[in-house]
Amino acid sequence: MTTVSKPPAWTTTSWRERLHAQQTRYADRDAVERAAAKLSSLPPLVTSYEIEKLKTEIAQAQAGERFILQGGDCAETLDECRPEIITSKLKILLQMSLVLIYGIKKPVTRIGRMAGQYAKPRSSQTEKGNYDGAEVELPSYFGDLVNGADFTPAARTPDPHLMVRGYQHAAMTLNFIRSLLDGGFADAHHPDHWNLRFVSEADLSPERRARYERLSQTLSDGLAFMEALGDGRIDSLQRVEFFTSHEGLNLIYESAQTKKPPRRDAWYDLTTHLPWIGERTRQIDGAHVEFFRGIANPIGVKIGPTAVADEVLELLRVLNPQGQRGKIVLIVRMGAANVGTALRPIVEAVAASGEPVLWMSDPMHGNGIKTDDGVKTRDFNDILAELEQSIDIHRKVGTWLGGVHFELTGDDVTECVGGAAGPKPHQLHENYASPCDPRLNYQQSLELAFLLGDKLRLSD
Ligand code: PEP
Ligand code: CO
Repeated sequence: MTTVSKPPAWTTTSWRERLHAQQTRYADRDAVERAAAKLSSLPPLVTSYEIEKLKTEIAQAQAGERFILQGGDCAETLDECRPEIITSKLKILLQMSLVLIYGIKKPVTRIGRMAGQYAKPRSSQTEKGNYDGAEVELPSYFGDLVNGADFTPAARTPDPHLMVRGYQHAAMTLNFIRSLLDGGFADAHHPDHWNLRFVSEADLSPERRARYERLSQTLSDGLAFMEALGDGRIDSLQRVEFFTSHEGLNLIYESAQTKKPPRRDAWYDLTTHLPWIGERTRQIDGAHVEFFRGIANPIGVKIGPTAVADEVLELLRVLNPQGQRGKIVLIVRMGAANVGTALRPIVEAVAASGEPVLWMSDPMHGNGIKTDDGVKTRDFNDILAELEQSIDIHRKVGTWLGGVHFELTGDDVTECVGGAAGPKPHQLHENYASPCDPRLNYQQSLELAFLLGDKLRLSD
């Protein structure tokens, strides 16, 4: 007879016993406890009702009836908690979702990397640089939830109170998003607010130009029709749903707001709807997997090029022992050069196991490159190539690529190269604003949505 050992009891703090990759080294432990107690006392950012709603939608996407669009900054900053930045990010996500709805004729769920994407994993704990005329080694920048980006000893010292400030800024961001959506946020549906001019101005092959023009004409007709129909007053057009997500990296922050809401018999991380485990912290015996296995939220897990099928199956067994639908989102980020060989065995093994997962492609994090001048960038063509290969692989195996995950902004930044009208390498310095990874700008994001909608429709 085989005995199955029961996992040890889970609590909101059982993760503290585990090894913690990316652990922040705070000098003042009392200040950490004070910050955690304060966070714990504050009202939640999201509700268990909303979290369960998202789980239902993820289950639909797992079944091929829906598509999920997740996107936003690599790292949000407290400084950029500003109305115009939040508005333009919301606008591009809504517009991309409409393009996708047109392309694939399925409902699309929108999830922002917003209202809490303040903690960043780093490859190295410290960084060398010049401070006050001397070469010094300081802690790396771990996101505004932990320390400051400026290369000074004061900014780089981890400060526990930043967790409370991060939470407050997440609340302000979310408050503004909720108000915009409740108020109708007409921008998304009003044809004049779409900037499609770049299509006619871009240097495109005749075939690609014809595809874009066909799509943008259909879209403009549809938008004009919606405008005429309701003058923006039709409820179903006005009330768009929106969910939030962030990497659940800082477990002090996440666990402080993990609660059993009234009339529920489960623990919810109430800082966000969809927290995810990053590529660097998905060790099966690590602190993050321990924390995430106990929460009722749907969970994202990044899957990089070194992952193998058995490891992924083990993660599913620990994170979703009951095989719940709508629970697990596998966010695959292999890179265009690896996805062709590394993805298929994993998809086949998971499909054979019958475990319900949502396959999502993150075509950003495996495609980082550096220009000759040492600037971190990503090439639009690599991003597109990873997406297209992923769609083809799922099609061959008979599974559904039900979501995408982008780093993007609604602004005119010059961080990724390529696309119909995107910057060339020598133009990257013109408006490079990301403190972390390079993001797609407004036009690159919209163009990608067009191409993705087309590709998914053609391969359906
Ligand atoms: C990220 O999403 O910004 C990130 C750090 O991703 P990954 O864990 O996949 O490297
Ligand atoms: Co990133």
